Amino acid sequence: MIVVTAATGALGTHVVEQLLERVPADRVAVVVRDEAKAAPFAERGVEVRVADYGEPDTLKGAFGEGDKVLLISGSEIGRRVKQHSAVIDAAKDAGVALLAYTSVLGEAADDSPLADEHRATERYLIDSGLPYVLLRNGWYHEVATGQLDRTVAAGGIITSAGADSRVASAARADYAAAAVAVLTGEGHVNRTYELSGDAAWSFAEYGAEVARRLGREFTVKAVSPEVHREILLGAGVPASMVDVLVEVDGEIALGHLAYRNGDLSALIGRPTTPIADAVAAALETVEA
Ligand SMILES: NC(=O)c1ccc[n+]([C@@H]2O[C@H](COP(=O)([O-])OP(=O)(O)OC[C@H]3O[C@@H](n4cnc5c(N)ncnc54)[C@H](OP(=O)(O)O)[C@@H]3O)[C@@H](O)[C@H]2O)c1
Repeated sequence: MIVVTAATGALGTHVVEQLLERVPADRVAVVVRDEAKAAPFAERGVEVRVADYGEPDTLKGAFGEGDKVLLISGSEIGRRVKQHSAVIDAAKDAGVALLAYTSVLGEAADDSPLADEHRATERYLIDSGLPYVLLRNGWYHEVATGQLDRTVAAGGIITSAGADSRVASAARADYAAAAVAVLTGEGHVNRTYELSGDAAWSFAEYGAEVARRLGREFTVKAVSPEVHREILLGAGVPASMVDVLVEVDGEIALGHLAYRNGDLSALIGRPTTPIADAVAAALETVEA
């Protein structure tokens, strides 16, 4: 079986949809913490296994001997090393054939708390002795475009990354295609892929693209990390999320998310989705 964890999340949904185009549904299983959310997959013949990364007992039946597993990193920042380790332990106990893990792009600073959890998971996975694949995902386009309704209403964005800092992002669907290539193909065991978009855009270019499509002004205001923090806190963003957002901008300012080596387009056999396409898709829903 090919098993996808966190399948009811945004990336996981893309992975399952693309898997179902390549393999019969009875060869696909999902591991989810909310069975009801996975009902659409179950209706199509996908096996649903219920487990929570944070409750090791629930992971006991999550995997079977010979499964090829995609462990999609969890979203509970600060708890993830323990959670991911529990999933890896369960996969090892079950005797899976492969475990691919969605990590973070390799250039991220070693002292970044966000990268730390991924690096620790990578080490735990490698030390487990399981056949592994590291899918080191860069930024999703949708992180930028997901809030376009609000930023368009506000007239622009604020960044502490610097207007000229670059991001080599790709669509979630591109990263999902890479995972599907690894899960359904051969020759990936114990490989590490640095996955990012073919092009690296700057915030100034991003703002100009949004403005061009909107036909009106869309500003990009570069501020210091301190001012960025104050603005976000003032807007009611929870402090823990403020830390993440300012930290990510710091990574971008250092150029860590601009890294490109062509692994993603090589794995998926096509160019990655341009940011302009993601802007256009997001604006369709904003303008509708
Ligand atoms: N590269 C990037 O730009 C970027 C940006 C954001 C996040 N990420 C990372 O990439 C992952 C996937 O991204 P996404 O967009 O699909 O995020 P998402 O939509 O928030 O999905 C996160 C998934 O993780 C599952 N999950 C969280 N905690 C869990 C637990 N304790 N046990 C089992 N499942 C758990 C969630 O389950 P439910 O469906 O039940 O909620 C959900 O399916 C994120 O979790 C995060 O680690 C990357």
